[in-house]
Amino acid sequence: MMEYVKIDSASELSDGGKMKVVVNGKTLMLAKLDGAYYALDNKCPHMGGSLSDGNLNGGNIVCPRHGSAFDVRTGKAVHGGKLAFIKFKVGDAIAYPVKTQDGDVLVGTE
Ligand code: FES
Repeated sequence: MMEYVKIDSASELSDGGKMKVVVNGKTLMLAKLDGAYYALDNKCPHMGGSLSDGNLNGGNIVCPRHGSAFDVRTGKAVHGGKLAFIKFKVGDAIAYPVKTQDGDVLVGTE
């Protein structure tokens, strides 16, 4: 069964913002977009760049290492990045379910 863990620091997040959080030993990026919260694994599926250090751009998070972009709502790769001027394709980021309950933000990890 999915276990949901409360993220105390979520209240510090303003709309259009993102932050790194550790839940059950997993490092995630928590983002707030149009009032809703989304969680992705913080590790870029390409080479492990820290997504929470990237730019959040119109609902896409751009990896600070080589510029791959992922939809924060789903983790789906929007476009790949560039490494040594060579364009590459990238897989999807891992998305975790988020729910809000009585003003608390909870993230599900298995
Ligand atoms: S590590 Fe993220 S694009 Fe390469």
